[in-house]
Amino acid sequence: MISRFLIITHDASLQKSLIEFFNNKNYDIQTACSGKDGLKLFIPGHYDLLLLDLDLPDTTPRQIIKKIRNQDQAVIIVAMTSAGTIQSVSDLFDLGINHYILKPFAMEELFFSINNLLINKNVQEENIKLKKNLSTLYKPAGLIGESKCMKEVYEQIIQVAHHDISVLIQGESGTGKEIVARSIHFSSSRKDKPFYAINCGAIPSELLESEMFGYKKGAFTGAIEDRKGLFEEASDSTLFLDEIGEIPLKLQPKLLRVLQEKKVKRVGDNREMDIDFRVITATSKNLKDEVDSKLFREDLFYRLNVITINIPPLKARRDDIPLLIDHFIKKYKSSIKKNIKGISKEALQQCIEYSWPGNVRELENFIQRAIVLTKKEYIQPEDIIFDIRQKKKDILFDDPGKINYKDALKKAADKVDRAYIQDALQKTDHNKLKTAKLLNISPRTLHYKIKELFQDH
Ligand SMILES: Nc1ncnc2c1ncn2[C@@H]1O[C@H](COP(=O)(O)OP(=O)(O)OP(=O)(O)O)[C@@H](O)[C@H]1O
Ligand SMILES: [Mg+2]
Repeated sequence: MISRFLIITHDASLQKSLIEFFNNKNYDIQTACSGKDGLKLFIPGHYDLLLLDLDLPDTTPRQIIKKIRNQDQAVIIVAMTSAGTIQSVSDLFDLGINHYILKPFAMEELFFSINNLLINKNVQEENIKLKKNLSTLYKPAGLIGESKCMKEVYEQIIQVAHHDISVLIQGESGTGKEIVARSIHFSSSRKDKPFYAINCGAIPSELLESEMFGYKKGAFTGAIEDRKGLFEEASDSTLFLDEIGEIPLKLQPKLLRVLQEKKVKRVGDNREMDIDFRVITATSKNLKDEVDSKLFREDLFYRLNVITINIPPLKARRDDIPLLIDHFIKKYKSSIKKNIKGISKEALQQCIEYSWPGNVRELENFIQRAIVLTKKEYIQPEDIIFDIRQKKKDILFDDPGKINYKDALKKAADKVDRAYIQDALQKTDHNKLKTAKLLNISPRTLHYKIKELFQDH
């Protein structure tokens, strides 16, 4: 490929020698005699190299380099200068030149440098192209879905993985915030270290501080020995702060300081430790609203939210439903020990049309349940029980009197049964004997309840 040069010099004899030399070498050359003319000729993205004489009558080196760099980040700029023109070479590099050569110089010397610069530029451009192609092919491990919006999520994961920037993952409950956070960690250079996670909403606020930062022996009653906090554990790794919107206001200034300074102090200790960690946060709330309502500090919000990844709800990516169903059937059929081949067309259609308020988590639970219930090789419409807990209005409690008291009690008891049985089945990998033991009921009662509760709905 022929490389395109623009030469800007006021020195006529230098210009002549350059043209003669480079014309022989089969380059495409344009020339200008002043800064003003040079800028007129300069087309962003067109030239591979700008050979710029800094001794120009109408412009300073700073002005012209700045203007060129603002328009074109990729063009190679080689400055030609006499010893007295510039005060500091490092200033020129700061402005964006790639190389400089002191006048007078031997053409061969200039040619050698230019050649290297051009080779380097080509390699870099090739790399960028390769990366672009890769990112369209690459899907982070464990993530299922080919929808356009999920592909955008994958692309963001790849873009942020190798930079230690703070990422805030936003999405409704069950959309996959944690699996995305894991995927960022396992695509990053920290992947050989374990992934650490804490759910800020699940830990009482008094305990959260010591969980995060650790404590010194004697810091409070019960602190009988020194303890590391999660930030320390996550040294050289990634710490995932889930439900960050739940972190108490009181604790927010401390977290902000830790993030800014990357220094951690255990509770009750004055010593600070330098810790290299990466933080990823997630929320199912709208954190900006929390900031507006003064429940979340604005400075902390901006610190955490350098990049936001929004995971769309499942109903916004219905194309992914069949793929996810397939994935979860494969995942669970062996542990449930049933030879399920798939889902029937009618049942699939119902799944595609359903609104999935609990998103992928609800779909995953649904498939586990359906595998247990179905008597066929393919999940049938009659095996479908969408998660009634997700229904917005609860007729039992929102409309007392709508059904008679006795029936309401029975329904409430069924609801408790259903929730406990589902939970126990999951915990025991669907082993019915163990489930019955866990619930402290007989296998017979369990069998009867499963039949009654899960097959009539
Ligand atoms: N794209 C996906 N591919 C495969 N599995 C997924 C995907 N998204 C979510 N899951 C699975 O769905 C379940 C819920 O995902 P996850 O825990 O990451 O969601 P979440 O947004 O953190 O939920 P919550 O708000 O309830 O904490 C997990 O078992 C996860 O493995
Ligand atoms: Mg989660």
